[in-house]
Amino acid sequence: MSVITSIEDLRVLAERRVPRMFYQYADSGSWTESTYRANEADLAGIRLRQRVAVNLEHRSTRATMLGQDVAMPVAIAPTGLTGMQHADGEILAARAARDFGIPFTLSTMSICSIEDVAEGTNGHPFWFQVYVMRDRKFVERLIERARRANVSALVLTLDLPISGQRHKDIRNGLSAPPKLTLPNLLNIAAKPRWWWRMLQTRRRTLGNIVGHIEGMGDNALLSEWCARQFDPTLNWDDVRWIRRLWDGKLVLKGIQDAEDACIAAETGADALIVSNHGGRQLDGAPSSIVALPEIAEAVGHRLEVHMDGGIRSGQDVLKALALGAKGTYIGRSMLYGLGAMGEAGVTRALEIIQKELDLTMAFCGQTGLKAVDTRILYGAQYRAPAPALALAA
Ligand SMILES: Cc1cc2nc3c(=O)[nH]c(=O)nc-3n(C[C@H](O)[C@H](O)[C@H](O)COP(=O)(O)O)c2cc1C
Repeated sequence: MSVITSIEDLRVLAERRVPRMFYQYADSGSWTESTYRANEADLAGIRLRQRVAVNLEHRSTRATMLGQDVAMPVAIAPTGLTGMQHADGEILAARAARDFGIPFTLSTMSICSIEDVAEGTNGHPFWFQVYVMRDRKFVERLIERARRANVSALVLTLDLPISGQRHKDIRNGLSAPPKLTLPNLLNIAAKPRWWWRMLQTRRRTLGNIVGHIEGMGDNALLSEWCARQFDPTLNWDDVRWIRRLWDGKLVLKGIQDAEDACIAAETGADALIVSNHGGRQLDGAPSSIVALPEIAEAVGHRLEVHMDGGIRSGQDVLKALALGAKGTYIGRSMLYGLGAMGEAGVTRALEIIQKELDLTMAFCGQTGLKAVDTRILYGAQYRAPAPALALAA
């Protein structure tokens, strides 16, 4: 493909370059994938309100997330096994985010470790996502490692105490490193850029875990450990426990319900993320964009409300802001860029989204993001009050 103009172009290229097992790990949701599809479809269904004759000369997509100045209100979401989309994937994505001026969130289930990312970005602060595991001592050590690595926000994921089922992962026998069955070998052999780079790195397994737990190192044991370790007893007391352990910025990820959001607001967290885990957990849950407005209205005055799920363009970012999000995250839009072209691909994804955001905001009569609310949306359901927005005299 010669010219890349959209996230979809990056997706197509990633599908060509990344082994099927890992490409499909990214491009999949649980069971029927109805929530996965709804995340994108519901965003696409929202119409924007075009305005004209507004002075659009000086524009900016700058904003803040968690008090941090950002080039645009888009952070990179935590995604597991990112270093399997492309060798050293987490380090490359973190560098692209740093250079672009947006936050990068590292997953607990990453290939590159907390320390690898800190070293690979010269100590630039990043965000770290934590799962509450049964082994609480391991969680304490993980948080301590994050603190030492200059992590500036902790993102606690609440929607995976048990795992949704993804049919494609089961069929592909997903594992890191990949099991070298004949079909996997044949498929990997056809992706020379991927395996050539993968041979140059030593990072091919879960970097935050292997070597940090006694007796861990063997892959069979590792997958067993992960299956056993996700803690189905996870509850609000655990959230309060994490709040006590970590005195920096705390973000609660995976909230879909206004009642849960109200409880979250009592925990002392600084932000929550309206998220259905990219449609990978409860199939049948509403899309994030549909769940967002009620939650923003219920708790937006008490903590920052962020959103992820289905963001594939700057238009999507703007729609989320209009419906009450103070910030958004991209999972697959980043993964497709990474799988397609490594660090340059992540940078390209960010450039595409920022340009779309800038132009779309302008078409809606806005020169900045501060005044964006439901008035930029078209249609009676948004009860758009008469006049106007930003607005140059
Ligand atoms: C391949 C993949 C792996 C993921 N791994 C994690 C993870 O380890 N921790 C987590 O909190 N969320 C994880 N997520 C969910 C993302 O953080 C985010 O909520 C989701 O990707 C947003 O939807 P989007 O991909 O449509 O942007 C993962 C998502 C994907 C696609």
